[in-house]
Amino acid sequence: MIRHALIDEKRKTYEWMCLSDTAAAHMGGADYEENPIPSWEEFQEAFEDFYYTESRKESGAVMIIQNGDTEVGCTCYACFHLNSNMAELDIWLKSESECGKGIGSQALKDTIEYLRKKIGITNFLIRPSEKNIRAIKSYQKAGFSYRTDKEEVLRKYYKPELFDTYKDGDYGFDITAVLTLE
Ligand SMILES: CC(C)(COP(=O)(O)OP(=O)(O)OC[C@H]1O[C@@H](n2cnc3c(N)ncnc32)[C@H](O)[C@@H]1OP(=O)(O)O)[C@@H](O)C(=O)NCCC(=O)NCCS
Repeated sequence: MIRHALIDEKRKTYEWMCLSDTAAAHMGGADYEENPIPSWEEFQEAFEDFYYTESRKESGAVMIIQNGDTEVGCTCYACFHLNSNMAELDIWLKSESECGKGIGSQALKDTIEYLRKKIGITNFLIRPSEKNIRAIKSYQKAGFSYRTDKEEVLRKYYKPELFDTYKDGDYGFDITAVLTLE
């Protein structure tokens, strides 16, 4: 199950992403030195308040993933930088103990279903590190296709005036994978 995160949950979602034992799987350290772990201040700049405001859901949002009564992590989507009917997704679980059980792929499926129904999104993009094999596998299980025609795909998704700003992703163009679900 997924639901919109509230503004007073912002700090919690930062801690799950950046201060938990799952952080090392996608940021910081020797493996991901090109994507250092953000400070709380940097996170707040990147995740502006609209991500935590359901009334701005056409621009993007952070969603809380619940497994039964337990909150286990977040999905996130953003649309403001993309062409019409497109969303870029992200996901992070709050603990390694929650990983590898299929929760990630199911939460992405739920987010996609929600976006299709609520705001008419038809094209989905997700960009993990090429080194993050677990994430790539999970996204493929959710229905995403791994793309080798990266530049062509990114030109289709990003607004032309924002292509240069976003094309490198979090890890640089070569190290950032491109997966789509259309
Ligand atoms: C990425 C993430 C969301 C995936 O969710 P998840 O619930 O752990 O993933 P799933 O259980 O749906 O699928 C993982 C798959 O990868 C496989 N896998 C895990 N580690 C692997 C490895 N080193 N090599 C190959 N396959 C691997 C698993 O076997 C599983 O496939 P299977 O179900 O066919 O056996 C979650 O692991 C996570 O939050 N990781 C830390 C944060 C992160 O990396 N976020 C991604 C940012 S882009």
